[in-house]
Amino acid sequence: MMPSPGSESAVPNAGAPLLRLEGIRKEFPGVLAVRDASLDVRAGEVHALVGENGAGKSTLIRIVTGAHQADGGTVELNGSTARWPSPLAAAGAGIAAIYQELDMVPALSVRANLFLAREATHLGFIAATEERKRAREVLTRMGVDVDPGVRVGDLEVAQQQLVAIARALLAEARLLVMDEPTAALASGEVERLFGVMRELRGRRIGILFVSHRLDEVMAIADRVTVMRDGATLGTWPACELTRERLVELMVGRPLDQEFPKVHIAPGLEVLVVRNLSGGRVRDASLSIRAGEVLGIAGLVGAGRTDLARLIFGADPVDRGEILLDGRPVAIRTPRDAIRNGVCLLTEDRKAQGLVLGLSARDNFALPNLDRWSPWGWVRRGKELSEFERFVAGLRIRVAGPAQPARDLSGGNQQKLLLARWLERDSRVLIFDEPTRGIDVGAKHEIYLLINELVARGKAIVMISSDLPEVLGMSDRILVMHGGRVVGEIPEAAAATQEQVLRLAVG
Ligand SMILES: Nc1ncnc2c1ncn2[C@@H]1O[C@H](COP(=O)(O)OP(=O)(O)OP(=O)(O)O)[C@@H](O)[C@H]1O
Ligand SMILES: [Mg+2]
Repeated sequence: MMPSPGSESAVPNAGAPLLRLEGIRKEFPGVLAVRDASLDVRAGEVHALVGENGAGKSTLIRIVTGAHQADGGTVELNGSTARWPSPLAAAGAGIAAIYQELDMVPALSVRANLFLAREATHLGFIAATEERKRAREVLTRMGVDVDPGVRVGDLEVAQQQLVAIARALLAEARLLVMDEPTAALASGEVERLFGVMRELRGRRIGILFVSHRLDEVMAIADRVTVMRDGATLGTWPACELTRERLVELMVGRPLDQEFPKVHIAPGLEVLVVRNLSGGRVRDASLSIRAGEVLGIAGLVGAGRTDLARLIFGADPVDRGEILLDGRPVAIRTPRDAIRNGVCLLTEDRKAQGLVLGLSARDNFALPNLDRWSPWGWVRRGKELSEFERFVAGLRIRVAGPAQPARDLSGGNQQKLLLARWLERDSRVLIFDEPTRGIDVGAKHEIYLLINELVARGKAIVMISSDLPEVLGMSDRILVMHGGRVVGEIPEAAAATQEQVLRLAVG
């Protein structure tokens, strides 16, 4: 029996793709976020969606998950026209979503978060013991070592991300939609996630995912759709693309040197950390000279962020010493750190960085959203011209200085945060995952900025889970595992990913 064309019949069209988007359009007041997007996702395929920051990927994804309504175009699921008035309706149709910005309840346990959406949908109440059992099962299957009873807010970003993925798995979706699921993960966790994705693919589940990590796209995707300026350019089988070609399609021009590292003769030791302990960190020591980029690699949970927070005075130090220019300093609060010329760009832009309700310009100008700043208010005129200089320099896609930070795309939020710190007159800059969620073109611009900073004699500590980046942009690399510094690679340029990974797994 042939289903009549365009009918809403429940008879699935066997030849049709799982999901088909045709000519999708979405406009926000003053912003045409998606102009003309078409793609299809087959059952049992991993389909990557790539494009520059602000290209419209998340907006398109949100139309698929029912979070946004398209202004034009058609959506088909299994050959039937579909339209989901809400995320709940999309979930009911078998679509599970993992967003770029995590949407879990920090105060609730992992288990509660895993079953939150389900209790609200068709499944009704499941007994707590059954929940705990299933939660354990799915976490174990993913190789995630998290106790379901722990509060989500007490987990690291990466662990939260894995819990979010576990939640989607529990929902037994037909189509799994993921917006930058690996952005907060390090290599080990990424491999685990890919294992899960392959398993899902084998069970004929369709996966649509957004990522800025092109290595990963090339490794996991069957097909790739490229988006630029609100429109899809086309879809290619991953095996027919090279990384260079993909970059060119995304950016619109070839990028000659991905890591434009410059080596300058390092100056005097600026920061020395001796046997620092606190939180998860045990006995960490490091030193960094003016003009140096010290990369810190390690798996998620290795204590890299904790170490950064100790140095910045954001968490209490149990033992150990911090010296600046050879003199011991007492850094007990971020305010002390900033006064001493030490800055930290945090990895969690939502919790510790941007004030989403404020305009882009005010976020940039905020001496600090917390009370720590010694700065006071700068003159508004100067501030506006500085803002504009940075927007142009980093190519931040913003409708105007008054646009609320909330409405910027994820990558552009990150650039805005970075811009804020780059304006500070500091000597030691600690960047925790500075390019997370940032597209290749913009990454390149951030690398150039890093070059500029070291040329001005700044010392940069760069924590990154992006191994090619750590290798490509650091002078030296420290590797952490289990809260300790377990290895040092004196010359990053001569190191290999395997070498770093071997140290990182302990
Ligand atoms: N709710 C909103 N209101 C107004 N403008 C929006 C809103 N959401 C997104 N935009 C704008 O739409 C455009 C596309 O944003 P989108 O988040 O889809 O980009 P993206 O491709 O996901 O980028 P990224 O890689 O940085 O995550 C951007 O210019 C963004 O500022
Ligand atoms: Mg996005």
